[in-house]
Amino acid sequence: MNIQTVFRAPPAQSLDKASEFAADVIAGLTNKPKSLPPKYFYDHAGSALFDRITGLPEYYPTRSELGLLQKHSVEMVSLLPPAAALIEFGSGSSRKARILLGVAANIEAYVPIDISGDFLREDAAKLHRDFPHLAIYPVAADFTVTTDLPAEVANMPHGGFFPGSTIGNFELHEAAAFLRRAGRVLGPGGVLIVGVDLAKAPDILYRAYNDAAGVTAKFNLNLLARINRELGADFNLAAFEHHACYNIDKSRIEMYLASTKRQKVRIGEVTIDFRAGETIHTENSYKYSIESFQALARGSGYAPLKAWTDGLFSVHALRNAAD
Ligand code: AVJ
Repeated sequence: MNIQTVFRAPPAQSLDKASEFAADVIAGLTNKPKSLPPKYFYDHAGSALFDRITGLPEYYPTRSELGLLQKHSVEMVSLLPPAAALIEFGSGSSRKARILLGVAANIEAYVPIDISGDFLREDAAKLHRDFPHLAIYPVAADFTVTTDLPAEVANMPHGGFFPGSTIGNFELHEAAAFLRRAGRVLGPGGVLIVGVDLAKAPDILYRAYNDAAGVTAKFNLNLLARINRELGADFNLAAFEHHACYNIDKSRIEMYLASTKRQKVRIGEVTIDFRAGETIHTENSYKYSIESFQALARGSGYAPLKAWTDGLFSVHALRNAAD
């Protein structure tokens, strides 16, 4: 038996990331209504704040999903093709993948894809220490656009992992497009394991995004702090408020930053005007039923294999049925 031990450091963050951020911010804030893409929440400070959110008493999704992964990891991994490369879309700290990798049996290589090169570097090194026989090929990229896998895993069967209900950030057509693209990355017979938050009593959802300690508010406002830090803007954070509400008709949490007064904000050469009470739409977090998510998956080229739930959250195994 020849077990390959590979660890490759991811490349440093590319320079055009900064100008892409600037372009997306200007585009979003000159939109009517104003909006900003939620993927920019996760700079170093934002990732740390999100970590705190995951430990809040009101924020059940992370605890629920970790419980489901722990309880059913053996069955989940058994549904992956044998000797698979596990591709994680938006790996963050790889905390959840560790639960699947710990079952080991079926997984030969791990390909964490994450936009944050910093996190990737730290965590790939730690993973390599803890799983010395696992081949690790980190990819520093936006998982919503990347389709290229490292050459080393190209001919292996593929499992996909997309936990955290990050798919809830997408509009329905975007979620379908993501699933289709993931299907092309995974290839015929590839299996995707995906975490999806469930629709439930509005008060439970409301509290999960309006925590008593105000961490979600800080997380939301950090988007403006990041724009100040990285683009030299002059947002006055004290003049914006966190708003989150559950839109029952659209089955989604909506997050906003509301300007408490009429004001101007300068971002480089550009000046943005805010009316009193005007909002920036910063995030949607769609909530599904088991059935509505499986219907979306079927429509995106997958055969649902199994869904696990604790009544609050769900984890789905889907087989790519397209060829
Ligand atoms: C990481 C997108 C799943 O929508 O619950 C948490 C992000 N926003 N609190 C979510 C988030 C506010 C989170 N996702």
